[in-house]
Amino acid sequence: MTKQKFILGNWKMNNQLAEIEEFTAHLTNLSQVQHPDLYLGIAPMSPYLSLVRQKFPPFLHVGAQNISTQKKGAFTGEIPASTVSELKGEFVLVGHSERRSYFHETSSELAEKIRRAFEERLLTVFCVGETLKEREEKSHFDCVKKQMNEVIELLGDDAQKILSASFIMAYEPVWAIGTGKVASAKDAEEMHAFISSLLKEKWGNEFFLPILYGGSVTAQNINELLAMPNISGALVGGASLKSDSFSLLAQAAFKFF
Ligand code: 13P
Repeated sequence: MTKQKFILGNWKMNNQLAEIEEFTAHLTNLSQVQHPDLYLGIAPMSPYLSLVRQKFPPFLHVGAQNISTQKKGAFTGEIPASTVSELKGEFVLVGHSERRSYFHETSSELAEKIRRAFEERLLTVFCVGETLKEREEKSHFDCVKKQMNEVIELLGDDAQKILSASFIMAYEPVWAIGTGKVASAKDAEEMHAFISSLLKEKWGNEFFLPILYGGSVTAQNINELLAMPNISGALVGGASLKSDSFSLLAQAAFKFF
């Protein structure tokens, strides 16, 4: 099991120029929490990728919140994986619940996006998670299993190669996103252990992927979450928008080294 830890910020449709300036102006304390096994990253809105890359210190990775299923061509409004690489983006979120629900992204589209990210050697952060209804109906394990299996089947013979290359997962229960209702560390760990066991069932006991937890992560709950054996980090919305709260999360992860 790798001891790598990840703190990834998903800025969603927030943080424009003024806020980016403000964030970068106060990044100084982040330089004290560098470690080769600590991966810190931010996914701004794509038009700001290049600017953010220039302003951030090299140890702070940048990524995209979404990419196209297509490589290039007449797809108005889309951004291909190759543009993310060209702008020095290093990772991409695929299957975030907001993309699944508001933009009706299907597993076959997600599998294509994962292929595009793989071709560009971007780190894929594949997101899964159940709705409140599914949790209340106790079908949350089935939901996550289906989200994973569909994509793995669609990737076919390439699945193991792609998932072994540059791929991590994020468990983000929909009911915990932006609601202030964090999953308990025990509930999150239970799902992470489940995901991990599904992967091992498929590809053997040695197969391991870091799995990040996302959903109302803050400096108050991060320690408990990161202490869990199957939680390798956090994918953070609200608490990643300001450099002071993001730094607190990075500091919490740094304590594990
Ligand atoms: P919050 O941390 O704001 O709940 O958002 C989580 C999320 O969706 C990260 O991708």
